[in-house]
Amino acid sequence: MAIFRLLRPLVFTLDAERAHRATIAALKLLPGRSPPTFAPALTTSIAGLGFPSPVGLAAGFDKDGEVADAMLGLGFGFVEVGTLTPRAQPGNPRPRLFRLAADQAVINRLGFNNRGQAAALARLARRDRARGVVGVNVGANKDSPDFIADYAAGVRAMAPVADYLTVNISSPNTPGLRGLQDAGALAELLAAVRDARLVGGPPLFLKVAPDLAEGDHARITRAALDHGVDALIVANTTVSRPPLKSRFASEAGGLSGAPLKDLALDALRRFRSVGGGALPLIGVGGIASADDAWHRIRAGASLVQLYSAMVYAGPGLAARIAAGLAKRLERAGFASIADAVGSE
Ligand code: FNR
Repeated sequence: MAIFRLLRPLVFTLDAERAHRATIAALKLLPGRSPPTFAPALTTSIAGLGFPSPVGLAAGFDKDGEVADAMLGLGFGFVEVGTLTPRAQPGNPRPRLFRLAADQAVINRLGFNNRGQAAALARLARRDRARGVVGVNVGANKDSPDFIADYAAGVRAMAPVADYLTVNISSPNTPGLRGLQDAGALAELLAAVRDARLVGGPPLFLKVAPDLAEGDHARITRAALDHGVDALIVANTTVSRPPLKSRFASEAGGLSGAPLKDLALDALRRFRSVGGGALPLIGVGGIASADDAWHRIRAGASLVQLYSAMVYAGPGLAARIAAGLAKRLERAGFASIADAVGSE
């Protein structure tokens, strides 16, 4: 993407959040490009949904569902919008988004800033769904008296425009949210969203944190299978701090990008090992190359997602990774992505 290389020094003179806002504004102006054609071997399906490429855009880039079609046009095989909360909310005070260039990483403590589900619903209802798979990631308002009710409301509200729904209980930036991953709360939450699901409605994915304790992987897998969750997204940002070089290293929030890679891969392997393939996995965290995506797939991911690496490498990265995956499939003698999943 030559234009990206040209603009990057300029964009990087802006603080991270203004750069992001400028990028979204530019993408909204982009003429509606049709999604590219991918190698047929990259076609894959989970939970009854077909994907032309297993390389998706992770939640948090397009929080309000404004540029999903532009991102599909740039070569993502699917796009997850959100996190969207029932009501609009401003998020945390700024600064709250930091580029750690020396570490190829990002720290954010945005706190689910978004314009709310109703606005996104109206916007997404106008798109042509034949253009590609768009998932909707839902969360709870920070000041909500009942987090679980917010998830049930989000699932009900967004189902009509979502190809899949993600229940995000792993953001570190809403106090108390990650507590929903604990045993009692998780069962209650999953029962509530199961009841909120419409018959014949979109599949439901659960997004978990990379910072889990021994035994959590088996417990979460069992709860997900018991309540009919269709796939796990592994993982969100980490509150841990592996060694970092950047001056922003000790900013509070969730860390993503290269330093998250090993942690997210390890979490994925643990979920694969306890689930044995019964529960499809979506691998995310520190993926920046075709090799990273390939390792994640061979470790058990049916699909992958990325966000932070795109900040440094530009939006053409998704198409480059897809092309690299097609080559690796051929070299390894696999006819499809599904054959490579968990093959390590
Ligand atoms: C995120 N992520 C995120 N996840 C989510 O479920 N809801 C959200 O609103 C956000 N917001 C968000 C904002 C920013 C600025 C970043 C960098 C990330 C997490 C994201 O989807 C992903 O799980 C992690 O970033 C790990 O992947 P990468 O970035 O290492 O490829």
